This record gives sequence, C-alpha cells and structure tokens, in this order.
Amino acid sequence: MVAYSSDSSVIIVGAGVIGLSIAWRLARRGVRVTVFDKGRAGSGASHAAAGMLAACTELEPGEEWLLPLNRRSQQLWPAFAAELESAAGLPVDLREEGTLHVALNADEQARLRHHLALQEKTGLPVTWLSGREVRDREPMLAGATGAVWSPQDHQVDNRKLAAALRAAATGAGVDLREETPVERILVADGRAAGVEAGGERHEASVVVLAAGAWSRGIGGLTPDARPPVRPVKGQMLALGMDAANPLIRHVVWASGVYLVPRRDGRLIVGATAEERGFDDRLTAGGILSLLQNAWRALPGVEELPLIETWAGFRPGSRDDAPILGPGPVDGLVYATGHHRNGILLTPVTADIVSRFILDGALDALARPFALERFRPVAA
Ligand code: FAD
Ligand code: GLY
Repeated sequence: MVAYSSDSSVIIVGAGVIGLSIAWRLARRGVRVTVFDKGRAGSGASHAAAGMLAACTELEPGEEWLLPLNRRSQQLWPAFAAELESAAGLPVDLREEGTLHVALNADEQARLRHHLALQEKTGLPVTWLSGREVRDREPMLAGATGAVWSPQDHQVDNRKLAAALRAAATGAGVDLREETPVERILVADGRAAGVEAGGERHEASVVVLAAGAWSRGIGGLTPDARPPVRPVKGQMLALGMDAANPLIRHVVWASGVYLVPRRDGRLIVGATAEERGFDDRLTAGGILSLLQNAWRALPGVEELPLIETWAGFRPGSRDDAPILGPGPVDGLVYATGHHRNGILLTPVTADIVSRFILDGALDALARPFALERFRPVAA
C-alpha cells in the first residue's frame, strides 16, 4: 500500500523514459517529484534503443502473457505522443507505417509462417504478404520471398522521446537532479523514507526504483527487495540515407537484424543481445553480423555512410518481463525490467505506476508483473 498524501513527495531513481514519464504524470497531478540520475537524463537504454513499438513482431513463444500489457501500451501511444508533444513543444516522430518481417529463402519463410500461426492464434492483427506484395511496399527489398505484415507495429524516435519527456517533466515542476547517483534507498521501520544521493539524505514518502539495468545495484535494500534485473547488451549502428529518398519507409525485420528508418534519413540497424555484464565495448563480430544481415536483406545499404555505432543495456529481469508496482518495502514502488520493450511500454507504465502512487490501486493488467513472482516458494 502506498501512503501518498497531498503533503508528501516522491523520489524517482533513474531518469530514463520510464522514470521521466512517471515523474511527468505525477507532477501534472500536483505531486512534488524529484528525479535523480547518475548521468544525464535519457542517456541509458532509452538513448540506445531503436524505438520500435513492436508488440506483434516481437512476440516470442512463451511470452503470450505479456501481450495484454504490450498491446494496451501500443494502443495508448498515439494519444500519449500527441499529449507529450503538446506539453513539451518537441516532436517525438511517431511514425505509423507498420512493420514487415521478411523472409529471404524457403527456410526463413517456413519459420516465419510457423511464427505467424502463433501470432494469429493469439489474435494479433498480422497477415502474410507474397514477395511481390512486399516489393509493392518496399521495392528495395529485392530478395524478399514473403513477409509477415504487422500494420500496428509502429516506431518513435526514442532519443526525441527522452528529450520531450525531460522537457515536459521539468516544465510540470519536476526537480531533475542529473549527475547525482543514488547510493542507497533509505528504509526505516520497513518503509521507504527517501534516498541517499550525492552524499546527502533526501526524504520522501514514496520512492520509485526506475534505474533500468542498474536497478539491482542500488544500495540499501535487503536481497528480497532487490529486483532481479541484469544488463542485456545490445550493439547498434546507424547508416545515413538520403532523407528525401530513403531506401525503406517501413520498419523491416529480417533474419538476425532489424532496420528502422528515421525521418532525418538515419537508418538504425540493430541489434545484438549479449550477456556481457556492463561491458559496453563494440565487437567486430557484433558489428559484422549486423552489417552482413542488413546487406543480405537490403543490398542498397552497401553505399551508405556509417554514421554512428553504440551499445546499450536492456534491463532484463529473470523472466525478461517488467517488474511493476509494490514489493516488500512499504512505499517503494518498482518500475524496471522492461527489457526489449521499454519504449513500447512507456505510456502504460507511466499510467499504471502514477495511478498506483496516487490512488493505491494497482491496475489488474500489472498484477502478473509484481516483484513477488520471484519470491521462492516455501517447501
Ligand atoms: P534507462 O533508459 O536505462 O534509464 C535508467 C536510468 O537510471 C539511466 O539514465 C541511469 O543513468 C539511471 N541510473 C542508474 N543507476 C542510477 C543510480 N544509482 N542513481 C541514479 N540514477 C541511476 N525498447 C522498445 O520498446 N523498442 C525498441 O526498439 C528497443 N530497442 C532497444 C535496442 C537496444 C540496443 C537496447 C539496449 C534497448 C532497446 N529497447 C527497446 C529497450 C528499451 O530501451 C528499455 O527497455 C528502456 O529504455 C528502459 O528504460 P528505463 O528508463 O527503465 O532505463
Ligand atoms: N526491441 C529491440 C531490441 O531490444 O533490440
């Protein structure tokens, strides 16, 4: 139970898209909010991501239980983007062309059709396109033999999203403390009492843990209260297309790669998924496989300039699903573990967590995602 009252305040640990969106929602309702980040706001996974809102394309076997949350957030996106752009006065470049997951040979086609059967069984709005229908939409995908078409899987520019959230949150009165790492969460008599950050104590009646891949390492919590989140490294690169005449307009997935065209002509090529702790070095093998797979699907990339390479850390929980809502410490609220879908899940997380803090009511959609699910079962 969260004991928020009008004279209390909220501290949020982490100024990624998750922490900032919760802060914005709370501040608009008149809550006093302070957000701490160890670096610059939006410089973690929220900067590294591709910005796909891919609830249908990214469905994995065994992860059907994530669909209600993922699909709700996907549906919230258009209104969320419009409201944020208006509050921040900044664009987030929500693009609604949809996603093509292409096959380039018979094996890949069989695999995609198998996956399509799962997507259809769960009621997702996806259809099969022939090679000719793919080329009608994207002529440069010359080798495509077919594709799964996901007309509702859109994209947003995640870097612009983070900048807009920062502007909207601070504009609504959020006190943003950058370059100020939280060393520990203060717990007194079983309740969250604030944080120690930059060597100082800061009191609050509610603390939200939204530190992405670093969430497990924040001090002050007993083992049962530390979220089981680890970094899942992703290497990425960006190529430069002609913005007026881009090679592709849809988000495109192919074996071992995805391609995300931005309005400014950048073509985001991603991503590896590696268990390497916080080692952020790029590897020849990682970049090679991304470029090779991108070239296989879209040979025209060969001529494009390479304009940026980077690596980021997805916050992956033990079951790769988010951790939302209350836990064993009264007044400590979790908003972490968003793994591959944190950009997609920003609107629904902001709604669920801010409403929980304000009203004490946890949305039924969030109940499967409580920290409690990791508690060992008594023998
Ligand atoms: P972060 O953005 O990492 O923010 C956490 C913040 O906490 C950081 O700013 C960090 O500095 C701060 N912090 C850490 N420790 C402390 C401390 N001690 N004190 C204070 N602050 C602290 N998701 C999608 O939906 N679509 C995609 O296409 C997509 N592509 C991705 C591609 C890659 C390569 C990666 C790495 C991720 C991708 N994701 C995608 C996942 C998405 O980026 C994340 O799930 C999301 O950004 C998580 O947001 P966050 O705010 O929880 O974490
Ligand atoms: N959702 C894409 C990624 O995590 O790479």
